[in-house]
Formats: sequence, structure tokens, C-alpha cells
Amino acid sequence: MSAKLVMMRKIQVITLFPEMFSGVLNNSMMWKAQNQGLVEFRMINLRDFGLGPRRQVDDTPYGGGDGMLLMPEPLFAAVEDAKVYDPTAKVVIMTPRGRRWKQAIAQEWADGGDNYIFICGRYEGYDERIMQLVDEQVSIGDYVLTGGELAAMTIIDSVVRLIPGVLGGENSAAIESFSDGETLEFPQYTRPEDFRGMKVPEVLLSGNHALIAKWRAENSLKSEK
Ligand code: ADE
Repeated sequence: MSAKLVMMRKIQVITLFPEMFSGVLNNSMMWKAQNQGLVEFRMINLRDFGLGPRRQVDDTPYGGGDGMLLMPEPLFAAVEDAKVYDPTAKVVIMTPRGRRWKQAIAQEWADGGDNYIFICGRYEGYDERIMQLVDEQVSIGDYVLTGGELAAMTIIDSVVRLIPGVLGGENSAAIESFSDGETLEFPQYTRPEDFRGMKVPEVLLSGNHALIAKWRAENSLKSEK
């Protein structure tokens, strides 16, 4: 028997609100992935790198404007701390200006074996000089969230569930996306066969696997893009 060496994937998150992540990362598949030693999450509180006795992390923009921007010093210090822990990790910043996230990229990141450091922006933005440290800018869609936390959680979930061994023995991750990321799930049914007069399509009860596969392909939702 040959033992296969599985590298634990490390994901670090720089955020002012680490507690936002605990519900998402400590339940269901994300919890299971950690429990199986397939992934490790490390939260870094940006406030710990704030300046002065009040641990300041933001300041007003040069040139004027209403908002407050995350200052470069705490952001650089937090990324440097994450790099001490994991020197080759890729640095990703969450921003609506970034590359649009999609299933095919989640698959690449899951297969690629890299570790990641996510920077979650807050308030009205951040000092642009942080981009010196950033490898990728990612957006989860054309809308503006209050901060990058929900976006980072979305990306982490979509990648981690594709890491081999995280989903159960069944190959449900591969089936559901048909690997091209453009074909979404087909409709599925479980017991009872007849629920309040709404019947399960006959073909799914037929046991004919070829027909079932054909029905599923025909009934898969196409992406609206
Ligand atoms: N931060 C704020 N809005 C965002 C979005 N749509 N995607 C990624 N990060 C964000």
C-alpha cells in the first residue's frame, strides 16, 4: 500500500472582524476540511497592527473626500506577519475592481496547491500602496459590499470544497459543475415520490442510467451570462 502525502492547505485572512468568519469556517464542510487536516485557517486581526494606543487603522484621504481609508502601515505589517508564517502564500485582496470570481478559478486554486492570504478591505477603501504586496485582486460580483469579509468567505468556501477529500466519497463536485463552470445544477428530488400532488419525474425512477444522464443534461440550468 502506498501512502499518499497530502499537504495541508493554509488560508490566512486579514480582517478587522475575525469573528465574522467563525460561523462559516467552523461548520459543515469547512469544519470537516479542518478536522481532516486538509486545510488550516488563520485569522489575523488588523487591529493588532494598528498604530498608537488607540490602534488606529484608518485615516482620511489625501485630496479630500468623506471616507476613511485603511492606512498602509497596519496592512503591510499584517501581510508581513502572514508571510512569516507562510512565506510563499499568494496575497489576494477583495475588491469590486478585481477579477470576477467564477467556478473555473475556484477549481484552479483548489488543484493548484497554493496557499493564500486574503486581505479584507473595510470602510471606503484602502491606501493604494498595499497593491505592492498583492498578487491577485478578486471581485465576487458587480455590487459593493461593506467589506471584503463576505467576499473572502465566498471564495474560501468555493475553493476548499473542491480540495480532494473535502467532499464525501461521491464525486458530487465534479458532477454538479460538469467541470466547465458554465452548466449549473440539474433539478434533484428525494422521497416522497408524490408530495402534495407534485410528482418526481418518471425517468428518475426508471433505473435507466443513460436516460437519467440525458434528462439531467437537458434540464441543467444554463448560466445567464
Ligand atoms: N468588497 C466590497 N465589495 C466587493 C465585491 N463585490 N467583491 C469583492 N470584494 C468586495
